[in-house]
Amino acid sequence: MREGIWLSVIHIHGLYRLEGEVEIQGSKNAVLPVMAASVLHKGTVRISNVPEIQDVFCMMEILKLLGCVCVFRDHVLEICTEGVRPVRIPDSCCKSMRSSIMLLGPLLGRFREARVSHPGGCSIGKRPVDLHLLALEALGARTHVEGESITAQALGLTGNRVELAFPSVGATENLLMAAAAAEGTTRVEGAAMEPEIVVLCRFLKALGAGVRGEGTGVVEITGRKESRGLVEFSVPGDRIVAGTYLGAVLGAGGDVVLRGAPVSQMARVQTLVRAAGGEIRTLPGEAGLCIRQRQRARPFSLSTGPYPRFPTDLQSVMLAVASVADGRSQIRETVFEERFATAKELQKMGAHIIIEDNTAYVTGRDCLEGCLVKAGDLRGGAALVVAGLAARGETVISGYPYIRRGYEDICRDLAGLGARISLEGQETNCEEENGSF
Ligand code: UD1
Repeated sequence: MREGIWLSVIHIHGLYRLEGEVEIQGSKNAVLPVMAASVLHKGTVRISNVPEIQDVFCMMEILKLLGCVCVFRDHVLEICTEGVRPVRIPDSCCKSMRSSIMLLGPLLGRFREARVSHPGGCSIGKRPVDLHLLALEALGARTHVEGESITAQALGLTGNRVELAFPSVGATENLLMAAAAAEGTTRVEGAAMEPEIVVLCRFLKALGAGVRGEGTGVVEITGRKESRGLVEFSVPGDRIVAGTYLGAVLGAGGDVVLRGAPVSQMARVQTLVRAAGGEIRTLPGEAGLCIRQRQRARPFSLSTGPYPRFPTDLQSVMLAVASVADGRSQIRETVFEERFATAKELQKMGAHIIIEDNTAYVTGRDCLEGCLVKAGDLRGGAALVVAGLAARGETVISGYPYIRRGYEDICRDLAGLGARISLEGQETNCEEENGSF
């Protein structure tokens, strides 16, 4: 689990325009729940367009501990789930990846019992799981939290009407996965509407569940008996990676094609890019997006929120863009209370950011100043890369393992667009540098 962690730093020489074409990797937030839901199946699941990122490797390790056989080659992941057992997932796995909580629903569904460790807090704020547990209880499970340990057990699972107090993505996913193995129909009100929920429902349908209303606030799911044999599935492009590269072009200027960007999932992001002065258009057949940014970005206002609002995962990237926009921008974070931590690092680069409660007021400068900064979380790390591209001189970013959690090779992608960016360092087993969460 710990090997292959890179104690590496990213070096960027900024102020070069980005030109060319980049292929957008498969979606992290779509593939992880699909991997977890695979344990509901007895047979083989073959998933294509799987990104080669640390979170996928970590989820594979968890699946192996549960008895799955996983083979991952050329972005195709095959999971054989015949030998799965409901063993307790060790703390170390749960700590290194929050998504391990996603196994609660599917393990409960298949074995009527599941044991994981609390994913804990992380650098972007509190990550409670109360809604996950309440949802599973509504299907008849008993849940128990003792210290770090979370147990869910049920004699039987029965479909029910469940109302979520907040459209939590994780709680909706856990509930749908357990409900796919319950007797009867579950009606989820206040469900999350994220595209990743739609992808998960598509997968649950492939396993035989009946699903209606996915992508809306009310989803109905009817449990299925058992699925066997081979199930093939493909995940879409990653809307957050595509949004990160749109942000890179807004900040550094340029003319770029994002092949494989999931156009229909990015309406709100495209609106914001236009507000910031970017010219954006869709490739024929919705095969991706093109963006052109000729002048300095215009200032903008945004507020994050559950889909279809602006994604919290792109808030830090837009903080970096606002730092070089031509005026005063305003960014409100409504999902994770501590997600402005990246502002401190951007300030070291000369950004003018004032934070009051859940709002950042940013007065843009011509360009930032390269210096030594540290990524403290996945998307914050990507934001520092975007800032480095719009900074004079050299930016050196440590904390690369955080970025590797979700970006296959951010340096390869941006260097392919003409950025002066490279990864320098060596492989190590150093635990503290592993980017958990
Ligand atoms: C969140 C994002 C998702 C993103 C993912 C990875 C939202 C709504 N969700 O999903 O788009 O891809 O992070 O960064 O933007 N909460 C509770 N109790 C719970 C669960 C959540 O109070 O049991 C609260 C959290 O404190 C937080 C909010 O709900 O304020 C968002 O939670 P949720 O959608 O569950 O988070 P993730 O599933 O991690």
